[in-house]
Parts: sequence; C-alpha cells; structure tokens
Amino acid sequence: MRVAVAVALALAARAGALDNGLGLTPQMGYSTWNDFRCDGLTADAVKRIADRIVELGLATLGYRYLNIDDCWSRELSPEGLLVEDPLAFPEGIAALVDYVHERGLLFGIYTCRGTRTCALRPGSKGLERHHAAQFAQWGVDYVKEDSCFASNEHEQAFSEYAAMRDALNSTGHPLFFSLCGWNTWYAPRGAQLANSWRIAPDCDEWANVYVAVRTNEALARFAGPGGWNDPDMLVGSHPDAAVQLTPRQVQTQFNLWAVMASPLLIGSSILRMPGSDLATYSNEEVIRINQDPLGVQGVPVWSSCPPFAPRDNWWMAPWTMPQDVARMWTRLLSTCLVAAAALIALLARALRFTRGAAPAVHGAHDPILLAPVATDGSTLADKAPSPALPRARAAIWRYCVSRGCLAAMLVLLALLSLPALAMLVAIHAMKPRAEPCQQVWVRPLEGGAAAICLVNFAPDVARIVCDAACLDQAGFPLGVHVRDVVARRDMGPVQSLDMDVPGDGGSFLFRVSPRD
Ligand SMILES: *[C@@H]1O[C@H](CO)[C@@H](O)[C@H](O)[C@H]1NC(C)=O
Repeated sequence: MRVAVAVALALAARAGALDNGLGLTPQMGYSTWNDFRCDGLTADAVKRIADRIVELGLATLGYRYLNIDDCWSRELSPEGLLVEDPLAFPEGIAALVDYVHERGLLFGIYTCRGTRTCALRPGSKGLERHHAAQFAQWGVDYVKEDSCFASNEHEQAFSEYAAMRDALNSTGHPLFFSLCGWNTWYAPRGAQLANSWRIAPDCDEWANVYVAVRTNEALARFAGPGGWNDPDMLVGSHPDAAVQLTPRQVQTQFNLWAVMASPLLIGSSILRMPGSDLATYSNEEVIRINQDPLGVQGVPVWSSCPPFAPRDNWWMAPWTMPQDVARMWTRLLSTCLVAAAALIALLARALRFTRGAAPAVHGAHDPILLAPVATDGSTLADKAPSPALPRARAAIWRYCVSRGCLAAMLVLLALLSLPALAMLVAIHAMKPRAEPCQQVWVRPLEGGAAAICLVNFAPDVARIVCDAACLDQAGFPLGVHVRDVVARRDMGPVQSLDMDVPGDGGSFLFRVSPRD
C-alpha cells in the first residue's frame, strides 16, 4: 500500500522528465575529487585508477563511471573550447577516454555553469553547445556541471542547466547529466533537468553526512528511475585521501546512501584503498538495495532528531563552505588579522613615543621604520646632521602625527579587521554539526521487500527500536524475515528490531521481506 503511494507520488512529481535513457538506477563509479582534489590529476593517474577499479573487482560490481572532477582544463581556446592541461593530459582527453573505455569503464567529465569552475578553471556559461559537442566528440559518457561563479537566482540557474541539458541532447550521444547545484530547490525541477541533482553542501566530513541526510528527508518524492537526489559523493577512510571518515562512518554513509537511492561515487583513495572501505563498497547486498529497480527513495519512519530546515546554500557562505574553502579563508583571514594586529601594535607604540607618553627604550631600535623619532624625546632634527630624505620623512611624520592621521590609521585598521574577525567567527560558529540523535529509515523495494536502516548520529551507543508500529509503517504489519545485509546474517522472522547501535556514526542495514 505504502509502496503504491510512494510510486504514484514519484511518478506525479516527475512529469516532463529528462529522457536520455540513462540513470534508471543511481549512478555508480568513482570520482577523483574526494580522493585527491586537483593535486596529481593527470592522464597517468587516471589510467592507473582505471586499471585499479577493474583489478579490485569494482567494475564488475557496477562501479562503471570513472569521473574526473575539477582541474582538468586549463583555458578556453579563442573559439571558446575547453583546452585540457597540456602537462597533465599530453595526449588529450579523447585518448584517455579510449583507454578508460578499453577497460570496460565509462568516462565522466566536469564543467561548471558559471564563468569559472570552483577551482577557477574556465566554465561553460554561454558555451554549453560548444562544450557539449566537445564532450560528445571525445566519447565522454557523463557530465557533471557545477555551480560556482554563477547566479543563485533560481530561474536563471534552471535555464542555464536547461541549456546544458539541451546541448547534451543535441549531440545525439547519450550523456549522463549530473547537475551540481547544492540546493534543495533544484529537487522539484531536478528530473526535468538532469539525471541527478545535488541537494546539499559538499559532503566532506561526518557532520555534512548528517546535513545531507536531513536535507534529503523531505525530497524522496522527486527521485525515481532516470533522476535522483544527490547528497554528494562517498567519502573513504584512507588518511591520504583529501577528505575522510572513520571506517564505521564509511559503512554508515554507504548504508544511508542505499536507503536514499543515492549515487554511489567512491571517493576513497583508490590506489591504496583500505580493506574496510573495499569491503564496504563491495557488499553486493547493499548495492542491490541501492540499485533496486523500483527506484523509490526511502524516508525516515522514526526520528529523535530535532527539526531540520535546510538553508539556501552558497559556496562562499560560512554555513555551506566546503572544508577546503573554509580552510583557505581561515588561513587567509588569520594571516590578515595577525598582520593587522602587528601593525596596530606598532602604530599604537609609535603614537605613544611620539607623544612622549611612554618611557624611553634606550638603545633599542624603534621598530617603526616610518617613525624616525628618537626614543629619548628629542626630535630627529636635534640629532646628528641627516641627509635630506630622512629629514623629509621626519617632516611628513610630524605633520601626520599632528594631524592625527596616525590615530586615524589605527582606527581604520581596527575597523577593517572587524569584518575579517566576524567572518572567521562565523565560519567556525556555523560549521555544521551532527545532532546526537537517531533515525530509522525505510525504503520500499521490489517484490514487497524493504530496506530498513537504523542510524545513530550521537557520539555514544544508543538503543534503537523499530517496533510493530514502525514495521507497520514500513508496510509489514506482521512478523517479517530479516537479514542483516552488512553482517550478511539471517535473523529469521521478528516482531520488532531492537538494536544497540554504536555511536559516532553507527548503523544497521536490514533487508526485510514478508514472512512467506
Ligand atoms: C533527446 O531528447 C529526446 C526527447 O526527450 C529523447 O527522446 C532523446 O532520446 C534524447 N536524445 C539523447 C541523445 O539524449
């Protein structure tokens, strides 16, 4: 019954959907971004990655897309075409696509609907047709289009994404279209625009897994075969990868992405993948839940979490900044503040000396180069004969002090520091946090089965119970057959699920089916 309602809702929300025949189940593959960002994105690296995806058996499991992310392109040609970095891709992208295809994989590429990509490479704004044609000509299979350096105005965003959608269609080559706008407001229009659409900020730490999951709660009806909500890529546990979770959180992100019918794009260090990550990503039973052909996104049926209202995300806003951007700003602003503080201290000291209010520091060099005023109270002019230049400087200095411009500079510097300080405080105060709460998610599956995920976002172990009423919500009024798909263990028929779930990102994922 519930399944029927969910399917009907999903169909109703998806009239006029993009029809390129792709994304009938959520996309699976690997992306370079969470593995190594821009550093070392070369054709050689991508070739080794392609070999590795096959060697690890991931290709056979369905991880077919090998997606290069930002930083592959260097500049626009005079004709407006994207030019690959000649050092990193000496043979060009087309040769690399061939290599990846020969390994039985599909090739994904990245661009941005703005004037520039998030890493400041050229964007596709106004050049959608040119770039789509290039991608098709190279034999690319998948295009991710980001949203940096672009308008946050909804209709404009929709029309820019529609331009790329239509450009891709007009190539006549089936290209999976991954819209990357990191906002919930894409979801109602998502299926018309793309095969998947990002709904939340970058998922680059555990707190952002929480944010993505809470954001996705209300969006289930927009997802279905052909178009999916995208809570972002998977994060692995290798310490050398650009971002990481703990092995337990890796498993839980994977479980949640399965019940949420989310894209599975591996972000762990692929060349040195930890055994735990490989085991997690290789679990066919979890993959099977993710790839269920019914294509219904799960919903929470029980939650102890506080109400959650997703914010409008802007990549430079303190509440939505990717870790890298937050780190960059923190470094930059702290450096500015330290420099400003040093200048303020020096100016203040100079003012004190100039006014003769402070005791002299005999023999010490006045640290202010600007202030050739002797520390014993005598003026520079009284001192030994000096060349013209220092004398002129001294005159300017005296003029400046008498006019209070030193004090004004001090005040100005202090005022200028305030926004920087406020920004730093905001970045840290608004950092996303996982609430210490628990949830039970249910996803209807083909054949009257369902997946049930119990997740604990709190730091400590918590007992989570999915009782008869909870199972009833999942569409199972009576005892059901339960299988723990992570432990790969049959639990037989049960009347309720009652588990101690480890803290700091623990979870269970069950497949339940009717008793007979
Ligand atoms: C282009 O769009 C039409 C209409 O939706 C669709 O039938 C066709 O398959 C699309 N072609 C490609 C290559 O995506």
